Amino acid sequence: MKLWGGRFTKETDKKVDEFHSSISFDQRLYRQDILGSMAHARMLGTCGIISQEEADKIIKGLEEVLQDIEEGKVEFDITAEDIHMNIERLLIAKIGDTGKKLHTARSRNDQVALDTRMYLKEEINNTVKLLKELQKVLVELAKEHLDTVMPGYTHLQKAQPVTLAHHLMAYFEMFQRDVERLLDCYRRTDVMPLGSGALAGTTFPIDRQQVARELGFAKISANSLDAVSDRDFVIEFTAAASLIMMHLSRFAEELVLWSSDEFSFVEMDDAYSTGSSIMPQKKNPDVAELVRGKTGRVYGNLVAMLTMMKSLPLAYNKDMQEDKEALFDTIDTVQGCLSVFIPMLKSMRVNRERMLESTRRGFTNATDVADYLVRKGLPFRDAHRVVGQMVLFCLSRGIYLEDLTLEEFRQFSAVIDQDIFEMLSVKSCVERRNVPGGPAREQVLETIKRAEKLIESD
Ligand code: ARG
Repeated sequence: MKLWGGRFTKETDKKVDEFHSSISFDQRLYRQDILGSMAHARMLGTCGIISQEEADKIIKGLEEVLQDIEEGKVEFDITAEDIHMNIERLLIAKIGDTGKKLHTARSRNDQVALDTRMYLKEEINNTVKLLKELQKVLVELAKEHLDTVMPGYTHLQKAQPVTLAHHLMAYFEMFQRDVERLLDCYRRTDVMPLGSGALAGTTFPIDRQQVARELGFAKISANSLDAVSDRDFVIEFTAAASLIMMHLSRFAEELVLWSSDEFSFVEMDDAYSTGSSIMPQKKNPDVAELVRGKTGRVYGNLVAMLTMMKSLPLAYNKDMQEDKEALFDTIDTVQGCLSVFIPMLKSMRVNRERMLESTRRGFTNATDVADYLVRKGLPFRDAHRVVGQMVLFCLSRGIYLEDLTLEEFRQFSAVIDQDIFEMLSVKSCVERRNVPGGPAREQVLETIKRAEKLIESD
């Protein structure tokens, strides 16, 4: 018999039971569901809506149900549809008729919103923890590589010299924005919907603040219709997760490129690489590739939920049950990716010589020579053209700017002196970029100091 079977004269079709049951996936919410029900029962008792003894009996019964589930003693039943009705059924089986009073002044519509919010609050915190772990590894690596010069790129063409520390700290900034987005999303998730009933509140004199306090919510929702039909917080989280994945995918792509023989900037540890079933020589950066690839499913989840919610009339609609698999998959994917990315990065070997060599062989000091000419009095546009001609000359001879003699330099511009040679080392190019936010050692050290404070803060 269905818990709602009263007005029905027929059993649900078996196919329909399978079709609309969500227990296979929403059983994840069992702990939140039980804690929410305990707070609800306690409040019903304090407000005199059920007796104190009944409240105690329900709470004790729920404790036992929780224990049974955690000990693996429970088999969920698809004919009970979802986690909410499965638990109510288990409670009634355990304590009898008193259990039937639990659902007074409540609907599954406010209940599922409550459970999802409680669950997501925890998972937002877990995701933030992982992001901070990743940021910590970035800072550690950056400290080791303050003087590891590498080419900075635009259009994936060598542009100007930076350091690996500066490059890694760019990712620190992205993940810092991700942390801030998650904490912001947390504030809107931290709203207690119970008491909204099915859509129009309840006729019972409940105390919503008591429930919010017991469950650790910052505030209660302001409108019952909105509270049962709002999934913004799920979508916001998935949007924030999409950005995390986008950042991880850019990082992963760079690591894949850098692992290639053509770059040879880094080598992933054997523990984070795999081989080929046919080519004995291969060592593939599969972990980074898979992180890059999994970005697509999180974007997919975001679009699925935006589309599912689009045009839904108020208030609750069954469509909204589709939020759960998308949310759970997003959480699993983003946390799973972070969990492997962190140790992979930590164990990665860096080829400093190769990075330096690649910076030298790439005219990455050309802007500095142009800046030198500007300091000697040339307008920048003219200096740009002069250095362009120098590069063309070098290219025709297979040499670099640092290979030119003073006489050769002077053929391009008479303002050039012996001090031109101080402009040429890529290390000096980095150190001259001593502006806030720039790659000079001093500036990167500043950002590292700030980063360490940010990691400690919440
Ligand atoms: N399993 C449902 C969900 O996840 C719970 C709410 C069901 N409410 C209802 N009126 N059918 O959305």
